[in-house]
Amino acid sequence: MAKSSRQDILEAARRALARARRVSVLTGAGVSAESGIPTFRDRGGIWEKFDPQQVATPDAFARDPAFVWEWYALRMRAVQEARPNPAHYAIAELERLKPEFWLVTQNIDNLHRLAGSRRMTELHGNLWRTRCLACGKVEELTEVPQALPPRCAGCGGLRRPDVVWFGEMLDPRHIAEAERACDADLFLIVGTSGEVWPAAGFAHQAKAAGAQLVEINPQPGSLSQLADFPLVGKAGEVLPRLLQGLAGPGQK
Ligand code: OAD
Repeated sequence: MAKSSRQDILEAARRALARARRVSVLTGAGVSAESGIPTFRDRGGIWEKFDPQQVATPDAFARDPAFVWEWYALRMRAVQEARPNPAHYAIAELERLKPEFWLVTQNIDNLHRLAGSRRMTELHGNLWRTRCLACGKVEELTEVPQALPPRCAGCGGLRRPDVVWFGEMLDPRHIAEAERACDADLFLIVGTSGEVWPAAGFAHQAKAAGAQLVEINPQPGSLSQLADFPLVGKAGEVLPRLLQGLAGPGQK
């Protein structure tokens, strides 16, 4: 039998999306690549230049909070000028079109929110939030802190980025939200290598729960073998095409 062409797979995925009532999306760094934010594990990615053990672990922060903060300040400056790309906007549009929708993102860059996504779980936290190690107060940041490491305005305690580091547990409420999102008719995996757990596990869980899986990625990765509809390409190009002609609830 002839292998399905890319166009056939795209059209089959479009039909599946049109039929689906419950739609969930899992995103990774690749969804922000076209906004100019480097991914982690691609060639030239963040983990090629930095050792995660030195910048993204509780031990690293305990050893040298100012150094870890310098690194986060660098990342904040890098994403500060970035704008959502057509992939982020297509995902926000999907939320408006589908009555049951949930986005689970591993990204901390805030671009989904800037594009209008609201029904979502930020599994690994948010770069623009800090948490006081002493009193636990969470604060939103509007700009890169001037003095590093920043201190809590209330109690003077050390503030850390409100992100998940290697070796840390995810927030149980976030896990519960992501698990609920696995009960979907269609589950889209966009721009993630699937190398980091438990995030990658949600794609397996969705498949086991009976969801059809769409993967959007220019490179096959460890989740590709799960995909019913592997769409090979850039998220900012493929997602808008996938949504073409999709009607909202009650529309024909
Ligand atoms: P990775 O860097 O591991 O993977 C990025 C994925 O995006 C790869 O599969 C690329 O092929 C794909 N990609 C690149 N450009 C793309 C594009 N234009 N459109 C679609 N896909 C594209 O990043 P993540 O899977 O997000 O965690 O990594 C997961 C976690 O590992 C991150 O949240 C971070 C990191 O360590 C923590 O820091 C805790």
